[in-house]
Amino acid sequence: MNARLVVLVSGAGTNLQALLDAARNPGYGATVVAVGADRDGIAALDRARDAGIPTFTLKVRDFETRGAWDDALAAACAAHQPDLIVCAGFMKLVGKGFLARFTGRCLNTHPALLPSFPGMHGVRDALSYGVKITGCTVFLVDEGVDAGPVLAQAAVAVADDDDEATLHERIKVAERALLVDTVGRMAREGWSVSDDRKVTIGR
Ligand code: GAR
Repeated sequence: MNARLVVLVSGAGTNLQALLDAARNPGYGATVVAVGADRDGIAALDRARDAGIPTFTLKVRDFETRGAWDDALAAACAAHQPDLIVCAGFMKLVGKGFLARFTGRCLNTHPALLPSFPGMHGVRDALSYGVKITGCTVFLVDEGVDAGPVLAQAAVAVADDDDEATLHERIKVAERALLVDTVGRMAREGWSVSDDRKVTIGR
């Protein structure tokens, strides 16, 4: 049985595209059933429409409170009966209402080796710190900022002449492969999280 993925996006959607491409293989074990966004006019939504996947857009400013937006986002995702929610470049933090429904099956990808450089500018912050190795992290979302249990990580070397754009592009190559591999293994083999937040994929 294919795991049902709802993918949340805010931008270019190259991670979404990698998942859509992987899911064309029937052996992958997961299929994208809907794509949700917090804004219009982004390439990620075009990618979803090109693939014939239903989309929904919920903008925070259209709701009276952040909590109301969060509840609406959770309801829009739940309508597609997802097994997993994948935040793939989704630039909003989900809140309590959303997590009450989806804790343990909502994952996110971040362009740094957490717990280093959480937040909106993971690539820029790693570069300004001067690290020689950075990378990407796929993790389960909890109430913190990029703080949940780690599912998988990949390292990327920083080049002397990197700027934020060149480094981010190289990280994204590693990130797409890591995300596709991690989601596929979770879908096919299952996963568990111990009390001390260690994640095991596979039984
Ligand atoms: C990815 O590098 C992802 O890690 C980052 O946005 C990019 C989205 O790329 N997310 C964050 O920085 C979240 N804090 P994409 O739209 O091409 O998939």
